[in-house]
Amino acid sequence: MTPDAPPPPAGAPAAPGPVLIVEDSPVQVEMLRRVVEGAGYEVMLAGDGAAALALARARRPAAVVSDVNMPVMDGYELCRRLHGEAGLADVPVILLTSLADTGDVIRGLNAGADCYVTKPYDETLLLASLRSQIDVPPTTSGADAGHPMRLRIGDDVHEVQARDARQLVGLLVSTYESAVYQNRQLRSVQERLLAANRELEDSNRTLEAAYAELRETQSRLVQSAKMASLGELVAGVAHEINNPLAFVLNHHATVSRALVQIEAEARPHLSPERVRLLDKARERLSDMAGGLERIRDLVVKLRTFSRLDAGEIRTIDVEEAIESVLTLLQHRLRERIRVTRRFGPQCSLDCYPGPFNQVVMNLLANAVDAIDAAAREGECEGEIAITTFQDEEMMHIEIADNGKGMSDAVRERIFEPFFTTKGVGEGTGLGLSISFGIVRQHGGTLEAFSEEGVGTRMLVRLPLRQTAPGAATNTGAET
Ligand SMILES: Nc1ncnc2c1ncn2[C@@H]1O[C@H](COP(=O)(O)OP(=O)(O)O)[C@@H](O)[C@H]1O
Ligand SMILES: [Mg+2]
Repeated sequence: MTPDAPPPPAGAPAAPGPVLIVEDSPVQVEMLRRVVEGAGYEVMLAGDGAAALALARARRPAAVVSDVNMPVMDGYELCRRLHGEAGLADVPVILLTSLADTGDVIRGLNAGADCYVTKPYDETLLLASLRSQIDVPPTTSGADAGHPMRLRIGDDVHEVQARDARQLVGLLVSTYESAVYQNRQLRSVQERLLAANRELEDSNRTLEAAYAELRETQSRLVQSAKMASLGELVAGVAHEINNPLAFVLNHHATVSRALVQIEAEARPHLSPERVRLLDKARERLSDMAGGLERIRDLVVKLRTFSRLDAGEIRTIDVEEAIESVLTLLQHRLRERIRVTRRFGPQCSLDCYPGPFNQVVMNLLANAVDAIDAAAREGECEGEIAITTFQDEEMMHIEIADNGKGMSDAVRERIFEPFFTTKGVGEGTGLGLSISFGIVRQHGGTLEAFSEEGVGTRMLVRLPLRQTAPGAATNTGAET
């Protein structure tokens, strides 16, 4: 009994007698007491069936709310004993159960329980059950007292004997009510789970996108680092070649001049044999001039790749610059390659004009080469599409062709100096590495998108304004 029970709230039921709460868990007891007292009932507490029976004998409760599993005497036994006692037989018993298996209902019926409430219980449902059991208590015996029945549930046959039809129906309805309540709980949990799942899927997608971006950034960084170190290497090599080249060129000029002078004086006195030798020497010297020219050209290209020998930054009109490069390439385009232009309305760009033209030239020359290669394989109708547009900070220049395209393995290497898939004398493998260096020096990016047999899209992005001339990342050492 609880002497410190609060006074019943206004509108509470006229005291029908105490509610006997039987529960071995102190925490559960406290919670039940709070709920039942909160509804205005007086409460008696017992920790197991035997103690409950003793309390009920001392003072008849209006109803019993009992746990099933308890030490000493469980809920079913308590129920049976109560209903066997004169004066207590019509005390309604509400069993708190997890209803884990159908056998529970049979056991409850046979024990004479009036109502089931599942654990964890809903307070409203528990109080509604309690109220209806107290308001309309069960009858003790009856004309409609049930006969024993044999019921098959699953593989088991159960002997069932309800006290009367009311107990049978009451217990089954309360079981059903509890199941409906549990079902509702389950559904709401399921909805919350679905929502959580959707959130998880969203986060997963975000994570995947972030990961892809990270990998792309990483490969760009690796590429940049590789190009930067190559830039230094190439600058060093160019420097080493440049010095001996300079004196070889000088000496070549000196030797050529000397030969001309000697020849003029000596020729009339020479035998035909010696004259032939002299002519051969002159020819060889002229061949050497061609070879030396090519070496000088290569050194200039290597230097451009590693460092911008570029003069000053100027503001140019991108459309004009592209058109001038197209004019230079006209002999290679002729009628067989259609060039479509989609120039954005704004075309002004800060850059080193020479190197910028070189980038455009390299990209267009590669596009023409790729179309030629595809044409050799039987496809024709070459097309190069040039698109420019700008956003707030960058100028985008895209050069797309429907040439032979490239495999992933080729695409991964195209920015390496001397990487070429073209035959000897057709490609040096320097065009894209030089372009990459130039674009980088401008603080921009150069990317390739390609599909073998379909075509290639080269995308240049350059900052519209160069704040400090030459301040962008330098790709290599001075030569
Ligand atoms: N538009 C393109 N279509 C197909 N392959 C290309 C294209 N641009 C470049 N490539 C590939 O990249 C390689 C390197 O290009 P580049 O550096 O300009 O050197 P090169 O043109 O002298 O071979 C080419 O040999 C070619 O395999
Ligand atoms: Mg090229």
